[in-house]
Order: sequence, then C-alpha cells, then structure tokens
Amino acid sequence: MIGHVVCVLAVTVLLMLSQPLQVGAVERAEAEETARLLAKLLQSGRVVIDRNQSLIDDPHKGEKGFTPEVFEQQLVQEFRIRTGIDLTALPKAPVSIVIPPLAKELLPALVQASREVIREAQVVINQRGIGYKNFIPATYGSQASARFSKSSHVRLKQTAIQPRNPKNEPDEYESSVLKWLSARPRADAYVSELTEEGRTLRVVMPIYYAKDCLSCHGEPKGDLDISGYPKEGHKEGDLAGAITVTAPLGGTR
Ligand code: HEC
Repeated sequence: MIGHVVCVLAVTVLLMLSQPLQVGAVERAEAEETARLLAKLLQSGRVVIDRNQSLIDDPHKGEKGFTPEVFEQQLVQEFRIRTGIDLTALPKAPVSIVIPPLAKELLPALVQASREVIREAQVVINQRGIGYKNFIPATYGSQASARFSKSSHVRLKQTAIQPRNPKNEPDEYESSVLKWLSARPRADAYVSELTEEGRTLRVVMPIYYAKDCLSCHGEPKGDLDISGYPKEGHKEGDLAGAITVTAPLGGTR
C-alpha cells in the first residue's frame, strides 16, 4: 500500500513561509490552500442543505422561501464560521497568503455554481404534497461540484470507495487514498500530493459519517433507505468518502 502524506493546516503554512521565493513551491502552496478552501466551501453548502432538510421535505408547504439568495447568505455565514473568511468582502480583500489569488477567483465561481444548483432545484423544493424529494446534501454536492468543474481548470468532486452515484466513482488515485484513509483512525486532516511528475496537485479531504447519516447509510445493511438505495451498514465515525480537488500546476491556467 502506498503511503500518503497527511497534512494539517500548520504544515501548509510552514511550507508557504519557508519557501517564499521558489515559484514552484508558492504555486503549490497557493493551489493547496485554494483546494482546501474549495473543499470547505462545498462542505459548508452540504451543511446548509442538511440544516434546511426538514423545510425542504415539508409536504404541507409549497413556496419554501429557500431561494438561491437565502442559500447563499447561509453558505457565506457557514463558510465564515469554518474558515474566518468573509466571502462578501473577497473582491476588496488584499491578496495575501491567507487568500491566494487563485482562491479569490475560484471561491466565487463555486458560490455561483452552488446558487445555480439551488435555482434549478426550486421546482422540486417548492413542490407541495411530497415529503422526501431526493434533494439532500449529497445531491447538492454532486451537482455543484460537477457544475463548477465544467467551467474551471480545477476539478472538484465528491467521491467514495463504493459510491451510490456512478458519477462519483473514484479514479485510481482517489481510490488508493480512500482505502488508505479507511484503514486509519479518523483525523481532521487532509491528504495533499503532487502527481504526474509534479504537474498535478491532488487534495483529498475526508468526510466521516455522523449519527444523522446512518438513517440512510447505516444498519440494517441491505435495507432500502428513504432514497431507495440499499443501506451500507456503516457506523458513526466510519469514513464516508471525500471531497477531492485536482489542480493542474505549471502555469497551465
Ligand atoms: C436521505 C438519505 C441520506 C442521508 C441522510 C445521507 N445520505 Fe449520503 N447519499 C445519499 C444518496 C441518495 C447519495 C447519492 C447522491 C447522488 O445521487 O449523487 C449519497 C451520496 C453520498 C456521498 C457521495 C458518494 C456517493 O455515494 O455517491 C457521500 C460522501 C455521502 N453520501 C455521505 C453522507 C454523509 C457524511 C451523510 C451525513 C452527514 C449522508 N451522506 C447522509 C443518501 C443519504
């Protein structure tokens, strides 16, 4: 089994400060921090959907008021709590080591992609008479990352060792990291490595199952959940999958 490099934020910052003059190191540090922030933003969006799930699934209500604007407000707030970064102040914020220029370009693009997903889901969300609508954090995550990746040179993805959605199938690299992570105790860390002789940065941010997730992904294994998929029999704290970012390096953008 290949050994992967687990990074925590402190390591990243150290990397940035220790090699400020090497262009390659700066580019990598910038891409790595951007990747970390993109993954956090997608994760924040998942949390916002989760928090509004009972509203979304309310069969008695038509118009829910969960508009792209309302979603964006909550997304910005959640992201600020998780990172300390205020996305509304981003255009005016000085380019710094904390918010690299690449992130300044790509974070708003992901907000935009996310808004589009919520906008397109309005008909589904506002349907009266139906409870569960299959608009859940995972569908948001799959759709927002696909939409973002279509219009960017950086690819964002939600994946798992055995995904429910075939579009989330891990590639060889992701599969190897996921298997490696699943054999280790839970850690609030992420894996970041250069592949293709340094031409591509891969970042893998693990997601673990919380209690809430087990109504669909837990026991009894094989029983169908509310979304119609067989439950996987997972337990709280098991590795659920990851948000991954693939960024080309070497001035290819
Ligand atoms: C209402 C049932 C339900 C709940 C609750 C739920 N999931 Fe899922 N999950 C799904 C469905 C359905 C998919 C496939 C979504 C798609 O079509 O992209 C999925 C997909 C995923 C994926 C992407 C990989 C894949 O299988 O395609 C991850 C990661 C994931 N879920 C993690 C979680 C975590 C973590 C939680 C708790 C925070 C959670 N899920 C709660 C139903 C659920």
